[in-house]
Amino acid sequence: EKGGFDHFMLKEIYEQPNAIKDTFRGRLRVEEGIVKISGVEDNLQKFINANRILIIACGTSWHAGLVAEYIFEDLARIPVEVEYASEFRYRHPVIRRDDVVIAISQSGETADTLAAIKLAKEHGAFVFGVCNVVGSSISRETHSGAYTHAGPEIGVASTKAFTTQITVLTLMALRIARAKGTMARADYFRYLQELELIPQLVEQALQNNLQVQSIASIYKDAPNCLYLGRGYNFPVALEGALKLKEISYIHAEGYPAAEMKHGPIALIDDKMPVVIIAPKQEHYDKIVSNIQEIKARSGKIIAVVTKGDTQVKSLADHIIEIPETSDALSPLISTIPLQLLSYHIAVMRGCNVDQPRNLAKSVTVE
Ligand code: M6R
Repeated sequence: EKGGFDHFMLKEIYEQPNAIKDTFRGRLRVEEGIVKISGVEDNLQKFINANRILIIACGTSWHAGLVAEYIFEDLARIPVEVEYASEFRYRHPVIRRDDVVIAISQSGETADTLAAIKLAKEHGAFVFGVCNVVGSSISRETHSGAYTHAGPEIGVASTKAFTTQITVLTLMALRIARAKGTMARADYFRYLQELELIPQLVEQALQNNLQVQSIASIYKDAPNCLYLGRGYNFPVALEGALKLKEISYIHAEGYPAAEMKHGPIALIDDKMPVVIIAPKQEHYDKIVSNIQEIKARSGKIIAVVTKGDTQVKSLADHIIEIPETSDALSPLISTIPLQLLSYHIAVMRGCNVDQPRNLAKSVTVE
């Protein structure tokens, strides 16, 4: 049932190239220059006229929502707010009829997300679900939606659900951006072509597995770990830290790299591993200077870089290379080595990777 893998989590990590292809199926038609998601087509005017998009989710799905915030604002120029469902539902949120709410949930059963959806509906908002489990409560409770089609995710730590959520949300942003005219035709076509290549690039990123395993063996006993990223890769840092915490029980924190100097930099010494997501992207020079600041305090740097990188390579203790893609799509690739890193560390520490202590696959109580 684990298809030759030791754990469901590893199997699901390796399923990502195909899972993303399944998410594309029938929706991404590069030759014709078409992105088509029926739930979006049926409600296109609602998205075009949306004053803002509210994204509600929990855990990893909330991280996918943060990536979507960057993509929707960048490409479709719609203001986005991303909310923890548990906070949203209890704080008298302002919800208007021209708000579009996107609820993201792998299981489609998360109690807080479900309650937040009901609240948004009561206020007259249009609610769109991004779920993996077909026929789940959230998929039934929402006005419309799009399935991720990642296939069953058994490991408690979410992996392929995360990348396929980002895939669906990216397709949605592209479709809406095109309809709104916020994106140049050439850029739109370039994104479609790059998206189609993503499964292949994920495959390439998976080829670093043994190298990531050897890095894991060096840091498996660290009591703490810091994850840093900027822009599109800030949510990836949060997700990397969550993955490490939940399956290896190592305390980890994710931070926007530039926020480090507002506090977390005090934690850095020669025992502190710092995972930095530093692909060649906008503000690369800024992340290089963040790395220099950490080095100056003897922190240990594990950097995820674009293949062929030299500058970060010369500063980092370890580098993990990933193939190049555009900034907006990079989370789909940069998250792969972080999934592998937490997996190997957890295995080496003898943890129950697929069923970590105190956690359930779907949180159906608040
Ligand atoms: O099924 P959902 O996507 O609604 O679940 C949300 C969170 O409970 C979930 O992502 C959780 O954080 C995972 N264990 C993370 O790996």
